Amino acid sequence: MSKVRKAVYAGTFDPITSGHLNIIQRGSQVFDELIVAIAKDNYKHNLFNLEERTALVEASVADMENVRVVPFSGLLVDFCIEQGAGAIVRGLRVTSDFDHEFQMALMNRKLKPELDTVFFVSDSDNLFVSSSIVKSVAELGGHVEDLVPPVVAEAMKKKYAEQKKA
Ligand code: COA
Repeated sequence: MSKVRKAVYAGTFDPITSGHLNIIQRGSQVFDELIVAIAKDNYKHNLFNLEERTALVEASVADMENVRVVPFSGLLVDFCIEQGAGAIVRGLRVTSDFDHEFQMALMNRKLKPELDTVFFVSDSDNLFVSSSIVKSVAELGGHVEDLVPPVVAEAMKKKYAEQKKA
């Protein structure tokens, strides 16, 4: 019997960007099933709450049949085991990502040696893209339409307009 190759791609996704989406598309082609895990708790001050972040990711991956979106809290490795996943997918953009990613991959492997981390190198168009940089441009009215899915560009516009009114 062949193994079902299930992987988890986790992040805060505040909000999901074209860079994340590119990793999800490629991950979904390599694995039988890719679970996009939305972190409930983190130490970041988020623009979108968990429900909003989840809904934006769901809308962005709606056309990908083998991708599931699931919020999670606690240790990522525990979530992976609970979901029956054998790998953690991560994206690498620039060399400065490497130290942190290397440390996380080693710690996750120490916690659960049966889980491997698989890295996808970012495509060149998204090397400079991060959620923070997109938010800072959108907040000041800059054009972000080619850096995030259309549903996210719309949601950011609405969110910043509401914040200005408040
Ligand atoms: N394209 C575009 N942007 C990308 C990207 C890509 N391919 N990959 C990462 N990014 C960006 C993210 O948008 C984020 O940008 P921001 O800081 O401006 O918001 C930044 O790079 C960091 O992303 P990421 O490394 O995914 O961090 P995160 O905070 O979103 O998520 C978790 C980190 C949730 C995966 C991690 O904290 C975790 O596993 N938590 C669970 C607790 C745990 O198990 N801890 C032990 C870990 S060893």
